[in-house]
Amino acid sequence: MATTVITNISSLVTNDPSLGAGPLGLIEDAAVVVDGDRVAWVGTVGGAPAADERVDAGGRAVLPGFVDSHSHLVFAGDRTAEFNARMSGRSYSAGGIRVTVAATRAASDEELAANLRRYLREALRQGTTTLETKSGYGLTVEQEARALRIAAAQTDEVTYLGAHIVPPDHADDPAGYVDLVTGPMLDACAPHARWIDVFCEKGAFDGDQARTILTAGAARGLVPRVHANQLSYGPGVQLAVELGAASADHCTHLTDADVDALASGDTVATLLPGAEFSTRAQWPNARRLLDAGATVALSTDCNPGSSFTSSMPFCVALAVRDMGMTPDEAVWAATAGGAAALRRTDIGRLSPGARADLALLDAPSHVHLAYRPGVPLVSAVWRRGVREL
Ligand code: NIG
Ligand code: FE
Repeated sequence: MATTVITNISSLVTNDPSLGAGPLGLIEDAAVVVDGDRVAWVGTVGGAPAADERVDAGGRAVLPGFVDSHSHLVFAGDRTAEFNARMSGRSYSAGGIRVTVAATRAASDEELAANLRRYLREALRQGTTTLETKSGYGLTVEQEARALRIAAAQTDEVTYLGAHIVPPDHADDPAGYVDLVTGPMLDACAPHARWIDVFCEKGAFDGDQARTILTAGAARGLVPRVHANQLSYGPGVQLAVELGAASADHCTHLTDADVDALASGDTVATLLPGAEFSTRAQWPNARRLLDAGATVALSTDCNPGSSFTSSMPFCVALAVRDMGMTPDEAVWAATAGGAAALRRTDIGRLSPGARADLALLDAPSHVHLAYRPGVPLVSAVWRRGVREL
């Protein structure tokens, strides 16, 4: 297997405190050696072992590829009209999901696969090397299974979200829809997914329904994650912690008890600032969660309704500007935090043995991701040791 040394790195984020300064394990004047699809060595330039190939980083920063642990990218169409209406004062409601359900059901497999490929490439160009995505715009047995098959062909991190909303065809029988989601739909979907998710919210699924659905999924080997406390206070966060969910996502409306639960449990609080940006909602309070001791991840929530951005750098910038995070905390949350939310130890860090997923910035340090918002700073990306950008 060929080895590559990336040298002349001004500032390297390893996310391994044993290797460098602070929680980011920062190493200045660094080099990284990649062997096949793995990181073989990191350290200061002078100590770097010889390698087959040499790449000069030009005195710029390198960090682990972003881990986007929450997106909804198996869909067709867009919701420009809804966004326009929102920007004229209408508020976001989960009801808009129905528009995307109709467009997605009408699309061919090829169209959905091509859309997903396009957004994965778009995310890669912005430094994302791992991306979770969900079903949730099919909401029939066949459509949900199809969405998950399409997702699984392009990413390892696939989530079954049959419980996104009660679809119009079951409007009079929500209990029947929960039976479908936990019965034949789960049978068809479980083989294609790693995770199960529920939108626990007024107008979607209440706490009891969410518990039933997540418990049924867990019995089939799917690990829970929950859309929790996005639009209002509610039971989602506490349920997520109680069930040992990998992640409670959104966490916008939290009581002190919710914060305490996240701080004491293993469930990662995944914050999705693209959604608050695009819905003009209040920001989640990352500072409060971090000060309480919760593990925080940042993710895009990329979807055509509430957050149509695939850009992790944009989310980092929002989190720093408006959610009380320092640039170091936001970059950790967008890399190691995302890995924690996906219960992965092979990504989100650059230390020996980790997957060689790296982003090279056209900037001297990772701080520029927040300092220079909106600027396309990602200039090269390696995934599994292969240069893809
Ligand atoms: O995470 N909240 C539920 N689901 C998505 C929005 C989906 C949509 O509006 O199409 C979210 O924000
Ligand atoms: Fe979401």
